[in-house]
Amino acid sequence: MSREVIASAPGKIILTGEHFVVHGAYSIAAAVNKRVRVSILEAPGDSYILAGDARSRVNNDDGRFVLVKTILRHVFEEEMKDQGVAISISSDIPAGSGLGSSAAVSVATAAAALKFAHLETSPRKIFEIALLGEKKVHGNPSGIDVETSLQGGMLLFSKNTESKPIPLNRVVHFLVVYSGKPRRTSTLIERVEIRKKQYPNFFDCLTRAASFLSLDVVDAIAAGDLPRLGALMNISQTALSWIGVSTSSIDRLIEDVAAQEVYGVKLTGAGGGGSIIALPKPDSVDALSKYMTRNYSYSFMTQIPQEGLRWEV
Ligand code: PMV
Repeated sequence: MSREVIASAPGKIILTGEHFVVHGAYSIAAAVNKRVRVSILEAPGDSYILAGDARSRVNNDDGRFVLVKTILRHVFEEEMKDQGVAISISSDIPAGSGLGSSAAVSVATAAAALKFAHLETSPRKIFEIALLGEKKVHGNPSGIDVETSLQGGMLLFSKNTESKPIPLNRVVHFLVVYSGKPRRTSTLIERVEIRKKQYPNFFDCLTRAASFLSLDVVDAIAAGDLPRLGALMNISQTALSWIGVSTSSIDRLIEDVAAQEVYGVKLTGAGGGGSIIALPKPDSVDALSKYMTRNYSYSFMTQIPQEGLRWEV
């Protein structure tokens, strides 16, 4: 029987500090209940990649599956000359939605490839290889998406320190709504870099404020203070508007959700479209889910915490 390795990894939401994390701030992210699954199977002939209807050879530089090819070529190096593999990818997470789909693909691919090649599969090694894929598509990522997808749960993350898991003394629900407008994280990161150059002192203050917001979120969670957590999310949204990554359609979506029974609502991830998250009042989780499903084509409720990388086979 041919050998198969399967790994899955979750998408993520960011509660505070997106973009500022690229410039050294603390940020908070959590894994969600939507996953990417990557299978690597021994196959005769050429090595190829399949995802839905798309198919491409690993050695064909046609621009498709760049992230996956970067990781595979790095891990397998010479080996793929002798042995063909079939890689198939299935995902619950829309690409470009700000929910960490590329990081989840990177983590699951790096993990499956390292295991398939009988190489070290420590979290550090998987992170290092997965980040190579992320860099190929995002240019200058902080690593928060990859770390959250790998570790799961909720994390306090900064580029300059070890990430810290945030213990949750109860399950917390978050509403996630995709605006339907995909966008490229790298474009938004570049746009923010221009803002930083235009207003360096203001940007520096906002970066430090983002760190304080993230540390306040840690305290609010430790105290089980959901209204305060929601208020901190609202403040975070204001800072994201100031750096120009919110859009009028995201603002309208936020306004609609803010009028429901929620403690806080903000965009999540790079912005410029993508998704928003909201913290529902505990008694309104079901009613809010129903309202969103009726009115929006892609929304879901996720419980936090969720598992990170998982070996399926
Ligand atoms: O790619 P997204 O939309 O999940 O956003 C990632 C978060 C950023 O802070 C915008 C980029 C990064 O690498 O930290």
